[in-house]
Amino acid sequence: MSDQPPPIPPDKIPRHVAIIMDGNGRWARKRGLPRFAGHRAGMEAVRRVVARCGEVGVEVLTLFAFSSENWRRPQQEVGLLMDLFLTALKNEVKKLNRNNVRLYVAGARTGFSDKLQRSIDQAERLTAGNDGLNLVICANYGGRWDITQAARSLAEDAAAGRLDPGTIDERTVAERLALARFPEPDLFIRTGGEKRISNFLLWQLAYTELYFTDTLWPDFDVAAFDAALADYARRQRRFGRTGEQVAQGENA
Ligand code: IPE
Ligand code: IPE
Ligand code: MG
Repeated sequence: MSDQPPPIPPDKIPRHVAIIMDGNGRWARKRGLPRFAGHRAGMEAVRRVVARCGEVGVEVLTLFAFSSENWRRPQQEVGLLMDLFLTALKNEVKKLNRNNVRLYVAGARTGFSDKLQRSIDQAERLTAGNDGLNLVICANYGGRWDITQAARSLAEDAAAGRLDPGTIDERTVAERLALARFPEPDLFIRTGGEKRISNFLLWQLAYTELYFTDTLWPDFDVAAFDAALADYARRQRRFGRTGEQVAQGENA
């Protein structure tokens, strides 16, 4: 007898999971450790969730690693987070590449040091040919930044005469967003107990199923991730239609 929960049918696995990895600082404080120890422990949780996504067939995993507002933290913590990002790129990318993971970094990357920008570029180039899990790391990312850069790029094209402003619609805006190449997230997870979006994917979360858990990110393990998947599998996504329409399989 296996004590595994029943497997989730493949059509109930989200194509795109987006996670706010929160609670590292509190995890460390509870243990009398400096906040940074929590960030380091959080890396283990990243490895677990990346591996699990590959196993269950999630196509895109987006992780919020550093928000546009996180620069407001004490300089020392910001510096250590940047070091951790650089070390993670150096140590993890080869393994991600071996596992057929394609890595993208979304956010205002000119905010990072030249060295970090170079190592991001290298990691993206190295994994560009992979066709397994798409791993998107949101770093110096903000949902408002994303919509603003899309608007600016549309305005530039309009001003240069390349675009008729009258043709701008939801699709043309969506095409300029940082994650345009991917389907919108089906499942959003926030660990750490807070129930807010904190300027994550504002546009893209319009119809995403939201899942909040008190589990702190470094404690988030495969069972906790599977619990979120199981919760998602029980939801009925209506996109404005009635429950009856959806039950009858009407998609139009
Ligand atoms: C999330 O954990 C990681 C980052 C924002 C970089 P926190 O550092 O926000 O942890 P708490 O919320 O203080 O516990
Ligand atoms: C959100 O967490 C950002 C990341 C996880 C990278 P925060 O800890 O920064 O969010 P707030 O400040 O509590 O809303
Ligand atoms: Mg936090």
